[in-house]
Amino acid sequence: MKIEFTNLNVAEIKADLLVFGHYLNEKKPQGKLAELDQVLDGAISDLIQQGDITGKAKETVLIHTFGKIPASRVLVIGLGNYDQFDQDLIREVAAIAVKQGIKVKAKRIASCPFGINHPNVHEHHVTHSFAEGAVLAAYHFEGYRSEKEEHHQIEFIQLMADQVSEELEYGIECGTAYGLGTNLARDLVNSPGNLMTPTKMAEKAVEIARRYGMEYEVLGKEEMERLGMGGLLAVAQGSDQPPKMIVIKYRGREKWDEVLGFVGKGLTFDSGGISLKPAANMDEMKTDMAGGAAVLGAMEAIGRLRPKVNIVAVIPSTENLPSGKAYKPGDVIRTMSGKTIEVLNTDAEGRLILADGITYAKKLGATRIIDLATLTGAILVALGTVTTGAFTNDPAFLEDFKKSAKKAGEKIWQLPTFDEYKEQIKSQIADLKNTGGRNAGSITAALFLDAFAEDTPWIHLDIAGTAFTSKETPTTPKGATGVMVRSLVQIAKHYGKHGMK
Ligand code: BES
Ligand code: MN
Ligand code: ZN
Repeated sequence: MKIEFTNLNVAEIKADLLVFGHYLNEKKPQGKLAELDQVLDGAISDLIQQGDITGKAKETVLIHTFGKIPASRVLVIGLGNYDQFDQDLIREVAAIAVKQGIKVKAKRIASCPFGINHPNVHEHHVTHSFAEGAVLAAYHFEGYRSEKEEHHQIEFIQLMADQVSEELEYGIECGTAYGLGTNLARDLVNSPGNLMTPTKMAEKAVEIARRYGMEYEVLGKEEMERLGMGGLLAVAQGSDQPPKMIVIKYRGREKWDEVLGFVGKGLTFDSGGISLKPAANMDEMKTDMAGGAAVLGAMEAIGRLRPKVNIVAVIPSTENLPSGKAYKPGDVIRTMSGKTIEVLNTDAEGRLILADGITYAKKLGATRIIDLATLTGAILVALGTVTTGAFTNDPAFLEDFKKSAKKAGEKIWQLPTFDEYKEQIKSQIADLKNTGGRNAGSITAALFLDAFAEDTPWIHLDIAGTAFTSKETPTTPKGATGVMVRSLVQIAKHYGKHGMK
């Protein structure tokens, strides 16, 4: 799908679908829609007067042009209240336009750039949000049916603009990168566990690193043993799939002094291990590598956009399975940091592999760390499937990230990490135990990770509720959401512009 500009007017464009916006309670068509109204002899004005076009947010009205103009169909989308209009709505209406285009099997869409000249939206975001929404809406997971279903692809989207600025051009580039990065993460997460193994994740990471000339490193079992990564190794013990510690380094600055660390949980299948999960819905645990996938999706976008910031991406990857070799409740393990852990539940495995991931990121120079993980079922109880849980040891860092997430249109909410909760993860015989009981399960999991971040500024994002959806929206199909890719790219871009000090 190519997104470009056109300065042709509505009566000249050869497209299968022409898309316009209309604000709520606007009595007459405005701008390009007014041009269209003229060539359609007042048809749009009529529809507004009849109450068929109201401008209610996300309302769609499809109109045939019956040969009056080269474009065969027109879609008018409601933009809602003028004062409430924002870039999130641009993303959504662009997605609605693409979905409608797919439905009518359009090859070419031409659309108004929604929100251009609107005081609530920066020029850059007019095209950024549009491209992002369009790319997200075009996502389709191929699947594995022997008879392939035809999935319609839109070839071109032309944005009708009389004047094109660098900001508008760059917006398309950014929105496309954010969208494609998210879609890459979705593909990885939607892949089944037998195909998306730690080895396969490492291959995908190497592909991305090579594509953008980034440094990379994939540690195997022997190197992990040499480095003492006892957390990752313990979890991997029960699996026949070799574990991988996956690293990509992106150098956006001359000096490797300020480095943003992205650490993603890459658990390619979580059965719970000896503390086996119930059978119902266990298949969903193929998505337990969504944190790692988000990191890879972000690296894809960062490769395209090249912000002036250093990034080290670290993804500890393994399966968690029961076997005669599997680690067991009661085992005590030593992590790379030197800290020892009493394992009380082998299903609390994410924090064990992340412990080594965080320690390794610090060793590789990370001066600020964001980790992402489908870490706890408890975060679903707290925040449902709408909001990602956020935790930090550095409120100012989280403030930066909150702004980035807001810009990216992703919802996060901070939960507390008060010292009192640390009592719950104290062990009688080791430095920590890996479960803190039922109460405040997401918080004690976060505090477990906090012990490994130590004094490095750190944010933990629990995406167990948001990485996967069973409800479809225009921007997000059922299945993997690719959550947090865009927020990661946004903060990378932010620090690229303003530095990390
Ligand atoms: N991967 C799971 C968390 C999860 C649950 C992700 C539901 C997505 C949906 C994690 O490894 C896990 O099993 N956590 C346990 C921790 C408990 C044993 C302390 C949990 O949340 O039950
Ligand atoms: Mn688990
Ligand atoms: Zn897990």
